[in-house]
Amino acid sequence: MNRISLKNSVLLLAVAMCSVPAAAFSAEGEKELAPVLIVKADDKAEAYTINHGPYLQGVTYDGATVVFTTSHRGFSKVELRRKGSQEVTTHDSRKNGLIMADNTHNVINLLGLEAATEYEYRIVSTKVENFQPYKVTFGEKIASPWYSFRTFDPKAKEFTFGVLNDIHDDSKKCNDLLNLLPVEELGMVFYNGDILSHYTEEGQPFTSFIDVSVEQFAKHKPFAVVRGNHETRGHLARTYEEFIHNTRDEKYYGVYYFGDTAVVMLDCGEDKLDTHEVYAGFVAFDEYRLEQVEWLKQVIKSKEFRKAKKRIILLHIPPAVEAMKVQGEKDVESMLAWRGNEHWGEILFPVLAKTKIDVMISAHMHRQMFFPALKGVHDFPIVVNDNVSAMLVKSSDQGVDVKITNRNGKVTFEERF
Ligand SMILES: [Fe+2]
Repeated sequence: MNRISLKNSVLLLAVAMCSVPAAAFSAEGEKELAPVLIVKADDKAEAYTINHGPYLQGVTYDGATVVFTTSHRGFSKVELRRKGSQEVTTHDSRKNGLIMADNTHNVINLLGLEAATEYEYRIVSTKVENFQPYKVTFGEKIASPWYSFRTFDPKAKEFTFGVLNDIHDDSKKCNDLLNLLPVEELGMVFYNGDILSHYTEEGQPFTSFIDVSVEQFAKHKPFAVVRGNHETRGHLARTYEEFIHNTRDEKYYGVYYFGDTAVVMLDCGEDKLDTHEVYAGFVAFDEYRLEQVEWLKQVIKSKEFRKAKKRIILLHIPPAVEAMKVQGEKDVESMLAWRGNEHWGEILFPVLAKTKIDVMISAHMHRQMFFPALKGVHDFPIVVNDNVSAMLVKSSDQGVDVKITNRNGKVTFEERF
């Protein structure tokens, strides 16, 4: 008994002795204080910092996920308050009775929030210097500035979002394309695939697009990643999900509701046959695509989806079927040569046949393509964005407005659906 008390005392003393840098708690603006210093995790002489993020994911009517990393192992939490309130709640990540600690990568869910409400959050984190089985020694304690975000509104009749795709690790291009979007007007950003070319380097999602996103918007507004075929490649592809938290059930595919607008995200899989030698027998995308179609059938039947007045589908690889050849024989022929396009056409179009979809937004082809609704084949238009343009989508009572602006600032597509 005494032994336990003594150990607890050591722990409490260690917490009490943590040094708190005055600057970290100052009320200065976030720009001055944004933790951008990148510190090698093995360099103990460097200061303890939040070195990536925070970024928001999976914002809904009643929740949000905050993702960030620290430069060294630590014990991190998120503090939350309603804007204008001094009442602060503290949130952490728990699994099987253990609170996540002595880690660098943090994914913390904020649940039970109120809809259409402005919140403020900040990260508080204490470095774990030494984690012995019966004694933890803490180090520096830091806190981020407060950042604001808003939960989505179930009564919304308008929603605006940005779509970028085929960034292929070019963070400068990502930055330039984000600059083309009216970030203040956006509810969120969807990355519609091939943001990475393949995932082979530690931290690559940060350097390719997440750091730029954090800089531009992601501390305040969420992004979701609709994977492309390229994100499934590379020996680290199976760890990509540590960075991407599109839905509360931790799937890449899913549906977001923004009031009377529904946005479905489908996860395309690879472009070639699962049996192609380059995949070495490591993939099962035919099965996975069918799983998504079964899921989509249930979504289509759901009350919330049926109630939605505007319905948009995001799918990186555009689906294709023979009957589309009347819309451009060569284009469709080249698409049909690939398993990804062809399989999606075969399994998806029949499921959507009796459902009103306003527009499908695709990518992958590295050039702009437009397939107007084709009766009895795909009863909705398909817009394919190229790889050097930003797309702005505004859903309102008037319909769904899609506007594409290229890197030179020229509007290359503008339609209301
Ligand atoms: Fe692609």
